[in-house]
Amino acid sequence: MSGAVLEARGMSLAFGGLTVLHDLDVAFHPGEVTGVIGPNGAGKTSLFNCLTGLYRPQSGSIVFGDKAFDKLPASVRARQGLARSFQHVALCPDLSVIENVMVGLTIQGRAGWASALLGLPKARAEMKQARAKANEALARLGIEAIADVLPAALPPGTLRLVEIARAIAASPRILLLDEPAAGLNAAETRELTTALRRLITPDLVMIIVEHDMDLIMQICDRIYVLNFGRLVAHGPPDVVRADPEVVRIYLGTDDE
Ligand SMILES: Nc1ncnc2c1ncn2[C@@H]1O[C@H](COP(=O)(O)OP(=O)(O)O)[C@@H](O)[C@H]1O
Ligand SMILES: [Mg+2]
Repeated sequence: MSGAVLEARGMSLAFGGLTVLHDLDVAFHPGEVTGVIGPNGAGKTSLFNCLTGLYRPQSGSIVFGDKAFDKLPASVRARQGLARSFQHVALCPDLSVIENVMVGLTIQGRAGWASALLGLPKARAEMKQARAKANEALARLGIEAIADVLPAALPPGTLRLVEIARAIAASPRILLLDEPAAGLNAAETRELTTALRRLITPDLVMIIVEHDMDLIMQICDRIYVLNFGRLVAHGPPDVVRADPEVVRIYLGTDDE
């Protein structure tokens, strides 16, 4: 099966009197990495929240291939292959790296944690399968050696890779990454860029919200620029970088 395009048309979102997204038209293509950039408060995370189903836009449509996504609750969108990482690290401190990655997978399993705890055969088989999938995800990111380590023992760059491993473990068709380089140093950001490049497949829709311009310019095939909830520019990195409006509202004021 070849990948599908994720598209939002005429999407608007407001909280009370505050319009956060204004009539957005965006399309995210399989096999490509799309960047979403813009100053703080521009609406980038809100856009992600609309795509995942956490927020309900007041108007517009979201389609993934032939599926009307906006009619589906977040849990169903996740089962259809939508995965995300969050702006802030959200790993369980009492679980090892591989257990953190397995959490997302075992929730999808049919036997569930209760029978797993009782050691029933079906549940045991599912746990084994989940462990294998989690290990594969860690290996794709080059961090399988730390599978049994607790998060507290790891530097921020590695924790970020663990979160991304958790997001990709179930082989998503859409991967949303919200500021994956936040809090990372330059070396960790370069390592992250390399790791993300390795995740690109012809079927995967990858979308990255990020302030780190080097990462965005190096990895993205196209970029959307938001400012105050409006789309102010979009196109390939070279075009966006040269856009006078982008230079004025974003790159010119980028002090991060
Ligand atoms: N749940 C919410 N309730 C009220 N306002 C919100 C909510 N989520 C986001 N906003 C507002 O929407 C605007 C965009 O926020 P956000 O999407 O987080 O921006 P970004 O991720 O680009 O920094 C901000 O003004 C923010 O305060
Ligand atoms: Mg944000």
